[in-house]
Amino acid sequence: MPTEATPPAALPRHLAIIMDGNGRWARLRHRPRTLGHRVGARAVNLCIDYCLARGIGALTLFAFSSENWRRPQEEVSALMQLFLRALDREIAELQRRGVRVRFIGGREAFAPELRARMDQAERATAGNGRLALNVAANYGGRWDIAQAAARLARRAMQGGLDPDAIDESLFASELSLAGQPEPDLFIRTGGERRISNFLLWQLAYTELYFTDLLWPDLSVEALDAALSDFAGRQRRFGQTAEQIEASGRA
Ligand code: IPE
Ligand code: IPE
Ligand code: MG
Repeated sequence: MPTEATPPAALPRHLAIIMDGNGRWARLRHRPRTLGHRVGARAVNLCIDYCLARGIGALTLFAFSSENWRRPQEEVSALMQLFLRALDREIAELQRRGVRVRFIGGREAFAPELRARMDQAERATAGNGRLALNVAANYGGRWDIAQAAARLARRAMQGGLDPDAIDESLFASELSLAGQPEPDLFIRTGGERRISNFLLWQLAYTELYFTDLLWPDLSVEALDAALSDFAGRQRRFGQTAEQIEASGRA
């Protein structure tokens, strides 16, 4: 008989998601890929609601990678239209629900109209604290690392920084998600088992979870399954299982 109280199941503080499978979802229905993206946008809302309900404090969603510009022009334009409409439609609601929105990625690549909406959304929600929602748009993990290096180099050139002072924590302070906990759980829908240039630095010790479910088919049950899988894992961060068990008993 166990004598100790059962600890509450581990909950990720930060969830990072590659929302993949929109195109295949549409193709299965003989519909244009853009329909998959439109229906996929609903799954974003489901995911935000889920984090708010479960008390997950940070959610990072991969919406558009720096490589996605390689897609057909028509699809890229449709995605941009979708972002614009989603920003117009959702900001008031996110504000009401206490969500703080931030965009990570190179913003200069977007049209001025979209950029203005992104700035506006960040400003309008800057005071919110229930959920930090990071939307990765024109984002690449390698870009993130390179831009952090460039910023540090600039500081060193200007004489304000000794290169020997650059350590992991200083480096991380120049990355896009500086100040937020690293993702505890990564989910990729759509069946591919790869990172596709998402958060490279930040995923170093993240638990990875892959599901064949296509993003537009996301459900509360699917998220529950990912979280319960996560709760069953032992995170060792280089230590032994015995050490982790001993510290759990302490
Ligand atoms: C993810 O779905 C959405 C974006 C990359 C914008 P995809 O469009 O990659 O869907 P599949 O992988 O082709 O099914
Ligand atoms: C990753 O999905 C990017 C986003 C979900 C935004 P992709 O569908 O672009 O990834 P690859 O090309 O299959 O690796
Ligand atoms: Mg894909």
